[in-house]
Amino acid sequence: MRHQSLLEYANYRYFRIAAVVIALVTGWYLWDDPPGGPNGGTWLGYTLGTLGALLILWLLWFGIRKRRYSRGTVPLLGWLSAHVYLGTTLIVIATLHAAFQVGLNVHTLAYVLMLFVIFSGFYGVYVYLQAPRQLTDNMGDETRSSLLLKIGDLDKQARELALGLPDAINQAVLSAAQNTRIGGSWRRQLAGNDPRCATAAAVRKLQEIGKSLRGEDARTHQQLYTLLLRKQELLATVRRDIAYKARLDLWLYFHVPASIALLAALIAHVFSVFFYW
Ligand code: HEM
Ligand code: HEM
Repeated sequence: MRHQSLLEYANYRYFRIAAVVIALVTGWYLWDDPPGGPNGGTWLGYTLGTLGALLILWLLWFGIRKRRYSRGTVPLLGWLSAHVYLGTTLIVIATLHAAFQVGLNVHTLAYVLMLFVIFSGFYGVYVYLQAPRQLTDNMGDETRSSLLLKIGDLDKQARELALGLPDAINQAVLSAAQNTRIGGSWRRQLAGNDPRCATAAAVRKLQEIGKSLRGEDARTHQQLYTLLLRKQELLATVRRDIAYKARLDLWLYFHVPASIALLAALIAHVFSVFFYW
């Protein structure tokens, strides 16, 4: 499966490369003994700073690479695997570059933005690894359009059945057919439910009125109630599907803008170091 092999890609190739990079960089940092103590302005400091900046540019390039149709030699999954592991090495590279010196300045702003991008990336990987299973467990063999068709069908049957029952029931069933919303704002999509769902309201109404019905009406009511419960189940499935897909997208709205902000802060950092330091 595509997403499951993201971390294992090519027998953990990029994990191993990342481990070697971290070992080399840490080894150099521990061995290094510059006059004036370690900081971003030593040989090691400049090397790590440059390495970090190049890595960030390359990670940003991924956004452009992703949208290209022509396939390069490394498949997109390989790029993503490299993106994830090499992106993570930045935590070590940048921390040692700065020699653990952080304060309230533009350098630290770049550093904090970088950490934000990286940790949002961790969350993204978590979501990517979970999503395929959640999506198939939830939907089974159904698709969103097949479920919507079934829901439309249930609405039709329910309205026909309701015709012989009291007005209040007819109104509730009509409202369930006309006012039930699927999707909506980001919050609604992510929540995967709707506390003001018209179908849920109709189910409650039917429970209430059902107690007073007798004979044939009670039997029709029971059938109608079963239909609406079935519709509620299908609605829950579609809403969960939307929620899982929204979760796959939403974190990128943090990851990508923060990446751009990081680039701006990084340019400011390098400028300020060269011109004002
Ligand atoms: C071309 C790339 C880079 C160059 C030339 C560079 C240069 C420098 C220099 C000369 C310093 C020492 C400044 C000082 O001690 O006051 C420094 C510090 C620092 N750099 Fe960089 N850097 C680069 C990339 C990065 C990257 C990628 C990050 C993290 C996103 C970063 C974050 C920091 C931080 C947090 C400090 C510590 C600032 C302080 O001492 O308060 N730098 N950098
Ligand atoms: C400073 C470091 C990083 C930068 C600048 C960066 C930047 C980007 C960019 C520009 C994209 C393309 C998104 C798009 O256009 O749709 C992306 C995607 C992604 N990044 Fe990062 N990233 C960084 C670090 C990380 C890390 C450390 C991880 C995970 C541990 C990560 C996980 C991901 C994932 C899972 C995607 C989604 C790819 C897709 O939707 O196909 N990133 N990143």
